Amino acid sequence: MTDLKTELGEAVAAAFAAEGVDAAVARVTTSDRPDLADFQSNGALAAAKALKANPRDLAGRVAERLSGDPRLTSVEVAGPGFINFKLADAALAKRAADVAADADHAGASLVAAPRKVVIDYAGPNVAKPMHVGHLRSSIIGESLKRLFRFRGDTVWGDAHFGDWGFQMGLLIVATGDEGRADAFLVEGDGPFPAESPVSLEDLERLYPLAAGRAKEDADYRDRARKATAELQAGRPGYRALWKHFVAVSRTALEREFSALSVTFDLWNGESDADPLMPEMIAHLEATGLLVEDGGARVVHVAGPGETRKKKLADGSVIEAPSPPPLLVISSEGSAMYGTTDLATILDRRKSIDPDLILYVVDERQAEHFEQVFRAARLAGYAGEGALEHLGFGTMNGTDGKPFKTRAGGVLKLHDLITQATDKARERLNEAHLGEDLSPEEFEATAHKVAIAALKFADLSNARTTSYVFDLDRFMSFEGKTGPYLLYQSVRIKSLLRKAADQGLTPGAIVIAEPAERDLALTLDAFDQAVSDAYDKRMPHLIAEHAYRLAQSFSKFYAACPVLIAPDEAIKASRLALSKAALDQLVIALNLLGIETPERM
Ligand code: ARG
Repeated sequence: MTDLKTELGEAVAAAFAAEGVDAAVARVTTSDRPDLADFQSNGALAAAKALKANPRDLAGRVAERLSGDPRLTSVEVAGPGFINFKLADAALAKRAADVAADADHAGASLVAAPRKVVIDYAGPNVAKPMHVGHLRSSIIGESLKRLFRFRGDTVWGDAHFGDWGFQMGLLIVATGDEGRADAFLVEGDGPFPAESPVSLEDLERLYPLAAGRAKEDADYRDRARKATAELQAGRPGYRALWKHFVAVSRTALEREFSALSVTFDLWNGESDADPLMPEMIAHLEATGLLVEDGGARVVHVAGPGETRKKKLADGSVIEAPSPPPLLVISSEGSAMYGTTDLATILDRRKSIDPDLILYVVDERQAEHFEQVFRAARLAGYAGEGALEHLGFGTMNGTDGKPFKTRAGGVLKLHDLITQATDKARERLNEAHLGEDLSPEEFEATAHKVAIAALKFADLSNARTTSYVFDLDRFMSFEGKTGPYLLYQSVRIKSLLRKAADQGLTPGAIVIAEPAERDLALTLDAFDQAVSDAYDKRMPHLIAEHAYRLAQSFSKFYAACPVLIAPDEAIKASRLALSKAALDQLVIALNLLGIETPERM
């Protein structure tokens, strides 16, 4: 299915081509003056110079060629050579009917060549509480996963569980020091206890304790490093203990993600790439990429002349390679964060062989991904364009720094959701919404409103920008918010229920009123919003469309009564338009990972 704008664009390009103008300049855009026209083309202005023609004359000739097109009611030249197009009501009605009939995609087109895509997002860690960076990654990654799938790609969402680094050694030492893990610390093959010696609370308490101590106490740090290396080398008791850490953390995390409507196809850990490590190291050695560097082993990834100034401990400044080399094996013999990322690329190639891997991770890790991607390309593990880091800004507090709780700690996802749900209940009550719902339904609705508020607040900003956490604003039923959009969809649902009660059914769409035109044009614009969001990996373009659609519907509903329209044909047409708007709105919200309640 093609949108009207693209269809018109093709006709306009053909008309320009017939005048000897390169079709590339003949772009059609949404009109700057919706009161005068629906679309415009500024192509004549761009082309006239090269052709040494008068732009107004050229525009006139192009307009002349298009004047008989049945999809247009008027083609006019304005100003120095703009061409303004107004669509015929019948063409808009036909397109709206096509959108209405397209139950699954609401007028959005599929990609021409579907690909296999892995989306690496959320990236939670064993024992470490999730911070706002993980929250943003979860929200953005989930939306991109849905968007890519919606357009026809085969997509795997992978949580890439952080279960393999130094923090594992820290936990082993900390649990051992508390005397809880004696049965696991013995040498040999076991058997080891099937019961976890630690609870989630223990892990959350022990991790910050151990991390803090390792910063000050070199001895402690060394013990943790050694434990990490032994775990990675396969010491059975450590592995058994570590499996408990992983299982306890994962159960808790899955509960939190499910409350957020975030689901993964794969819960692979950093550790899952471990079996590939020997093969990878051997290969990197054989190709001469892996080199010795002060006891550690690294891959140089900077090209000739790629340097930046670096200050050394003694105060002197040198030109150091930029990006810095990728640390593959530490001097203690441990695999590092970048090592697991590199091996994971191999793992994914073996299991899925994806065309594209998207990493939805905090912008502050940009250099890490630059190092890993370069190393992967040097080693031949991935081709040009097959790996993309999609960075994002931070969610800040009112002080402009990454959001922290009042106590200064990281905000736990669970607490955030509880806080948002409390606020949602309060707001629903204030607005006298949900009064007819059963207590269970009210609770479910409050939860949906809370999640919609958090997700929409995040996704309505361009991915790359930072934004300020302001629950009061996110939770308002007015303005560009999740709750406003849920409210609008519930309103349409209620209208459709009333219509059904009166025995009315949607019928042929007729476009006559300006508000109907605007709604049809907005429905048409979804295709472009979806493909732009996809091409740029920018879900906010869908958030913007959803908001525009809700507003357009609202104006339509105010100007064009549905249930009390003057005649049956108009009622049926407006009902069909309302249903198309609802379907598209629900789909758009779903692409943002937001579920709409039936009533509120
Ligand atoms: N666990 C990491 C962190 O908390 C994020 C993982 C991102 N994904 C990746 N493939 N490195 O920072």
